[in-house]
Amino acid sequence: MLSKKMEKGLNDQMIAETYSAYLYWSMASYLHDQDYPGMGHWMECQAKEELSHAAKIYSYMLERGSKVVMGAIEAPPSDWDSPLHAMDNVLDHEKKVTGMINDLMDVAMEEKDHATVQFLAWFVTEQVEEEATASSILARMKKFGDYVQGLIMLDGELGKRPAPFDMTPKD
Ligand code: FEO
Repeated sequence: MLSKKMEKGLNDQMIAETYSAYLYWSMASYLHDQDYPGMGHWMECQAKEELSHAAKIYSYMLERGSKVVMGAIEAPPSDWDSPLHAMDNVLDHEKKVTGMINDLMDVAMEEKDHATVQFLAWFVTEQVEEEATASSILARMKKFGDYVQGLIMLDGELGKRPAPFDMTPKD
């Protein structure tokens, strides 16, 4: 059974992961609106991944005998100055999430909750990947600056990202 502190921390993290999905979905919509369909697709994939992170925590909490309580999700921004600005926000947001995961890991370690330490280790590794990916795309965007051809090339490349799962209605 999870401690009350661990339970609240995981519940809050599940809500934060859902907010991440909401934020990236909003960015996807902005990028499509700016005629960068590849970047929009990449961001939709990112939103789906975040939903899967929320679901992972949800399932773990149920498995440990906890009740998951859905909280309010704040409205994310809907506009950015440029794709570079949006990607810069992705990196900032992921750094914030990394801090939250690390705080949760600290609680699990203090409480000697070995199962939760093991569970959170996946998220620690995932955050390294998330930050590295956002950082690398951002670095390339900075190199391109206002060179539109470069951004169009990047758009085509990001559009090839395989979707983590399909959410398209079937009819
Ligand atoms: Fe689930 Fe991108 O943190």
